[in-house]
Amino acid sequence: MIDVDKIRADTPGVEHSMHLLACGSALMPQSVVDAVTAYTLLEAQIGGYEAQAKQSDLLDKVYRSVAAHIGASPREIALMENATVAWCHAFYALPLKPGSRILTCEAEYAANYVAFLQRAKRDDLQIDIIPSDESGALDLAALESAMEEDVGVVAITWIPTNGGLVNPAAEVGRIAKAHGVPYLLDACQAAGQMRIDVEELGCDFLSATGRKYLRGPRGTGFLYVKDKWLDTLEPAMIDHFGAPWVARDRYELRDDARRFETWENSYALRAGLGAAIDYADQIGIDQIQDRVTLLADEARRALSEVSSVEVQDLGQAPCGIVSFSIDGHDAGLIVKKMAEAGYAIGASSPSSTRIDAERRNLPTLLRIAPHYYNTESEVRGAIERLASLIR
Ligand SMILES: Cc1ncc(COP(=O)(O)O)c(C=O)c1O
Repeated sequence: MIDVDKIRADTPGVEHSMHLLACGSALMPQSVVDAVTAYTLLEAQIGGYEAQAKQSDLLDKVYRSVAAHIGASPREIALMENATVAWCHAFYALPLKPGSRILTCEAEYAANYVAFLQRAKRDDLQIDIIPSDESGALDLAALESAMEEDVGVVAITWIPTNGGLVNPAAEVGRIAKAHGVPYLLDACQAAGQMRIDVEELGCDFLSATGRKYLRGPRGTGFLYVKDKWLDTLEPAMIDHFGAPWVARDRYELRDDARRFETWENSYALRAGLGAAIDYADQIGIDQIQDRVTLLADEARRALSEVSSVEVQDLGQAPCGIVSFSIDGHDAGLIVKKMAEAGYAIGASSPSSTRIDAERRNLPTLLRIAPHYYNTESEVRGAIERLASLIR
């Protein structure tokens, strides 16, 4: 059982707001704040290069923490400034022959989709959107039948930004593997709210961010690159960290995933990411998932009783992101009024997930995304407040 009182005592933000937006940027635990500030102070005291040398063990440990958290080895991890950069490094590095097809899902995130469009235009590729099944999840039978020819990559979002859907990421991995097609998984909204095991997922690449359910600082993320790609995969951009300049006319790629990194980084934020992952692992990711699901289900139940509210989550077993629309009310204004009342909730515009939004004719959706540090009464209080706002 999660010790909610202890967790709240570890979370300074709970004193300041009823924060229900872990899918945006969650509240950091004090240990994360301490790791970032202690590292920054050390830089101030002895200098940035000197701090890095002194804290090299701590900084190396961040790779081990990320790797252990997702069932990878440290050499398969590159630390990044966000999930988008991580994802793009993998996507733009993949050799895709002209005419080959990108298979994706209806829930795909905007940043990924515009990259598909750019490479489709530049490299003469085709984008095929796999339809959803009745529940709204990616249809595995449709994926299987789309695998016949010229598939260059399967690239899907596990949990979309605009709701509680959980796509069948591991089943997609089995299909991609059976056809020998590279599989790039956007795990941005999954990281920190559910178990990630890259072996079970069967993915070749996985991207995630630090600031959402992992409770890390903003400006952090990571990329997993399956070992088998590390002999061959040439990053789209390199510098002399990822690819040391070994002779006048030659560079040599590092033999690990850090070939995607560059020389300069925020080491203080990396220290914070490491602390965030260690904190989550101490609590236990399965316990975290259970509590997040419990609170989200409570939010859905309470919202479904408010007239003119429509819960918009897809999938058979929705996760921690609760999405809904309110007939006749502007989502932005609701977020503002809720903030004035002390509740942090969010909105997601149709352009963040255009394929899904167009298919379902969605307006800007509201999002409530509790984390394990929230209480049942915060969740209920938010929905009571919301109901009073629209009455
Ligand atoms: C599904 C999904 N993928 C990717 C991203 C991008 O993450 P970042 O802002 O860390 O680049 C987001 C952010 O909301 C997201 O929801």
